[in-house]
Amino acid sequence: MPLKVRNLLEQVGDELILKIQLGRRPLKCQKLLLKMANYLTDSKFADKQLELGYDEIYHTYLLITIENNHGFNVLQHITENAPKTTTGRTVLVLEKTMRIGLRYPIIPDEMIDLYDIPLTPNKPLALNQLISTALHAGKDFFIYDAGENNMCQTFVKHFIECNGLIPNIVDQATLDALEPMDAKALISTLGGRSKIVKGATDLAATYLWHIHRTYTFFIRIGIPGPSPTFFLGNLMELMERKRFTLSIKEWTKKYGRIFGYFEGHTPILVVSDPNILQDIFIKSFSNFHSHRPIAFDDPHMKSCHLFNAQSLRWKRQRFIINPTFSSAKLKQMSPLINRSVTALMKKLTEQYQSGQSFDIYAFLKRFTMDTIWSCGFGLDTDMQNNPNDRYLIQSQRVFSAEYLLMIAGYETTSTALAYVSYVLATHPDEQLKLQEDIDTYFNPDTDNEIPSYEMISKMDYLDMFIRETLRMYPIIPGVINRQSTKDFQIDNFGTIPAGTIVSIDMYTLHFDPDLWGPVDPNTFYPERFATKRHPLAWIPFGIGPRSCVGMRFALMEMKLVLARLLKTYSIIDCGEQTYRATDQLEEVTVISPKNIIIRLQHRDEKMV
Ligand code: HEM
Repeated sequence: MPLKVRNLLEQVGDELILKIQLGRRPLKCQKLLLKMANYLTDSKFADKQLELGYDEIYHTYLLITIENNHGFNVLQHITENAPKTTTGRTVLVLEKTMRIGLRYPIIPDEMIDLYDIPLTPNKPLALNQLISTALHAGKDFFIYDAGENNMCQTFVKHFIECNGLIPNIVDQATLDALEPMDAKALISTLGGRSKIVKGATDLAATYLWHIHRTYTFFIRIGIPGPSPTFFLGNLMELMERKRFTLSIKEWTKKYGRIFGYFEGHTPILVVSDPNILQDIFIKSFSNFHSHRPIAFDDPHMKSCHLFNAQSLRWKRQRFIINPTFSSAKLKQMSPLINRSVTALMKKLTEQYQSGQSFDIYAFLKRFTMDTIWSCGFGLDTDMQNNPNDRYLIQSQRVFSAEYLLMIAGYETTSTALAYVSYVLATHPDEQLKLQEDIDTYFNPDTDNEIPSYEMISKMDYLDMFIRETLRMYPIIPGVINRQSTKDFQIDNFGTIPAGTIVSIDMYTLHFDPDLWGPVDPNTFYPERFATKRHPLAWIPFGIGPRSCVGMRFALMEMKLVLARLLKTYSIIDCGEQTYRATDQLEEVTVISPKNIIIRLQHRDEKMV
């Protein structure tokens, strides 16, 4: 049943409410959207309630209920400080843009119904700062409601009707309100009834000042980008596409190598110029040492993990963890990984013997989980053979609490291995070339040689193969960002203020023909890594001192698996089933395929 303003008022009592139209289509991911909206508005409006809904009038709407502690003086402020050119319509546009902000019990019932009627705009408005912001904010609304009527007229007509006024006894000034006029004059014309207009515009105005400051952030520093919509910024566009990194790539194409967009009220500066990135992420690391804060995670808590830790806490944690991934330590860990590879090979052999196609990604996940537990926690686990392993069960619990940290070591590497499997299956010639190269490192007279840390460190072609896969299929491009602690000057652009979040567009860098030519970057071609490239052309593990601490571990783990797997088996595609794997990737921090369906073939088979 459509939720009407009248019902809402009964529910919320003496509080300000805003009902904002978000578009015609019902929204997906409502829970997530609400969580984000809550988070994004917390700094300004802690005492609020948000609700997403759908009704006949507003279609998809966002309802915000906020305790009214701002009073009316914001509107007064607008009218006193607005430029002379500000028209009465401006005030009404504000009201309309925000849709509704009523203060019970001042509002007569008739007015409540009036506010349920979508008002219609409108001729072009006399532009000034406020109007343009209002237009920005109400973009969707204007598209939806565009009609012949002048919104100002509609509003005032209704106002007169609802208040039982007869137009010919209304004073001239009120009649003048039917035409654009000075805002102050409109308010004073409406006299006692101005409370209604004030009430309706008060909350809108509060928001508007805040939004105006926020949403003009990039305009003020001369950086282009997509226009934000009220409250959600550009989140809707990001979410509609499902793959937000692809939206970022599209925006780079449209606005250039440096642009800005908004996640709610938060401006994000996106850079894909490798030289500017080098300045920010490496040369000015002392200013850009922290990741942007993660929602619902407090970076000042003692329990905060490395990824989210800031400044000195991060430095201390990183200092402690760095030696864990030294060459000496990796070498010590390699036998533990090899033990997990042996278990994986056993499972894969069973699959081979069954002759059936299967999802290799599922096996790879168990494998990387095994190695994390054995190398990271020194535990002897067997998750690959025993699905009831107590550590596997425990790890599923750990996930909910330390999701990000665990994801760092487990899902990333298994997903990277899944993409390599996909590439091997779909590029048989490349696979053969890699197998022949790997063969040269093994002793041809021994069957069961286990590759050592030293041996895989020498496998350059395997290294290039993995790098090329990660270039084309980066696993977590969305997590690389930094927040500045001081103002920062970007050559040819200007100064970005302290607190700005800088993010990257990894796809644009990874597929840039200037950085990766002459062979087309859309072609899988590991040999391109034999040529020296810009140091920031390849960044699947991040950039600078805060890049992935587990990179060398992940690469070693991948090489130990691939060397043994490819020495014995070839990965064979299962037609459509395999090729489909990368059609619709899912993106929730990690970009992953649903499955990688393949078949294994023993390499000896061909010789028989
Ligand atoms: C293919 C596998 C992996 C990929 C693609 C990957 C990628 C990344 C990326 C992009 C970052 C952010 C870097 C930045 O902001 O500049 C990161 C950070 C991190 N990664 Fe990885 N990672 C992988 C494997 C691992 C493994 C195996 C571990 C641990 C065993 C690990 C632990 C971490 C940690 C702790 C951080 C936070 C570092 C910090 O903030 O100082 N990652 N990773």
